[in-house]
Amino acid sequence: MNPLLKIENISLSYAAKPNDVSVLKDYSLTLNSGETVCILGPSGCGKSSLLRVIAGFEPIDAGTISLNDVVLSSASHTTAPEYRQVGFMFQDYALFPHLTVAENIGFGLKKLSRQEKTLQIQAMLKLVDLEPYAKRFPHELSGGQQQRAALARALAPQPKILLLDEPFSNLDADTRERLISELRAILKQTQITTLLVTHSHSEALALGDRIEQMG
Ligand SMILES: Nc1ncnc2c1ncn2[C@@H]1O[C@H](COP(=O)(O)OP(=O)(O)O)[C@@H](O)[C@H]1O
Ligand SMILES: [Mg+2]
Repeated sequence: MNPLLKIENISLSYAAKPNDVSVLKDYSLTLNSGETVCILGPSGCGKSSLLRVIAGFEPIDAGTISLNDVVLSSASHTTAPEYRQVGFMFQDYALFPHLTVAENIGFGLKKLSRQEKTLQIQAMLKLVDLEPYAKRFPHELSGGQQQRAALARALAPQPKILLLDEPFSNLDADTRERLISELRAILKQTQITTLLVTHSHSEALALGDRIEQMG
């Protein structure tokens, strides 16, 4: 197996927390190319924080994070999120409310020509089955459709790794069941290396090639 992402002995503490209590302490994890790893842990154990440091939104205090043997984060260096080739789907989806679905998906595609961009947006709309909704705004979509739009936006720039933060927490039980199998199919189809964090045992079991406990 080919290690794609290496997280080695990292620590993170938020200055704002009382006594600088550390959220991640000497934490290590390796992700192989093409696998889906689920991190399972209770609320507050540091799952979102871990994804934020991998994405580059948060600097670390110790250790290293490397992708394909290139160091992205250390105590002295943090590569900016836009240079990491990491896709992020936030817990609340964080779609831009004033942009259509197609514009949301195209947001990270600034380097492409107009034609390439249009083609990639079409391909992503097809992948997540939202072709008829391209011109709608996020508030005109159901929760499940918003989730799929957010997934398409995260995948559009063809990141090396996809990070999913509690992807089903805002959905009702029926929608969740359906979307778990849809997501599994999309991950298999794209073969993208994925790190998913959740507090739900059943979601982790349904999606992970491997499950890691946290907290
Ligand atoms: N920006 C922040 N500033 C200070 N403390 C934070 C910040 N973000 C998260 N925390 C704290 O860090 C801990 C881990 O939070 P988080 O990573 O969101 O956990 P999880 O996603 O597992 O629920 C919690 O105690 C939380 O209150
Ligand atoms: Mg969280």
